[in-house]
Amino acid sequence: MKIAPSILSADFAHLADEAARVGECADLLHVDVMDGHFVPNITVGPPVVASLHASTRLPLDVHLMIADPDAYVGNFAEAGASIITVHAEATPHVHRTLQAVRATGARAGVAICPATPATHLEHILDLVDLILVMTVNPGFGGQEFIGGMLRKISQVKAMVDQSGRAIDIEVDGGISDATTPLVVKAGANVLVAGNFVFGGGDPRANVERLRESALSALPSC
Ligand code: DX5
Ligand code: ZN
Repeated sequence: MKIAPSILSADFAHLADEAARVGECADLLHVDVMDGHFVPNITVGPPVVASLHASTRLPLDVHLMIADPDAYVGNFAEAGASIITVHAEATPHVHRTLQAVRATGARAGVAICPATPATHLEHILDLVDLILVMTVNPGFGGQEFIGGMLRKISQVKAMVDQSGRAIDIEVDGGISDATTPLVVKAGANVLVAGNFVFGGGDPRANVERLRESALSALPSC
């Protein structure tokens, strides 16, 4: 299990400090990049990723919610992204975009919005290290988990198992200690959480709560 706190719900004026609050207990730091075109919100670009890269030991899990990702994957790789995830809906040739990500040396992820079926992934499995199943519509933190995505996570898990490849299955949106057991049982192994980690209380304790919740949902043998 990997826990990836999302900085979208952190204090953007103190990102290094916020990253440090989860640095000892999280596995990845999730960075939401939004452009005001693909999603109706705007966040950060490569300079902020570069600054975070210089200030945290956590690998950066960069979630590109931007139009024309091909034009920017090189910039994010240079900025220090470990994983670059592009949306299947954001590019007409996602196969080519994933090849471009791999060419940078970063790990390649593909994300699908709630309305996009799992079958969309069938012919790109050999190019991805991570599949991100959105469990809310992308653009904002603090939204309600969409329960219908559990079936899609199970479908993706079956596709990944059949492929024989070691592909991470990440979920993003409305992840809490209540929804974690559901997504873990469905097959997710990377949990993104913004509001649950940074929305109140001690971020480190919140990460530990998520991890306990995830582990309790796994079969004991
Ligand atoms: C939403 C972002 C998420 C966001 C999740 O478009 O991709 O990473 O931070 O926020 P929560 O965990 O608050 O639903
Ligand atoms: Zn995200």
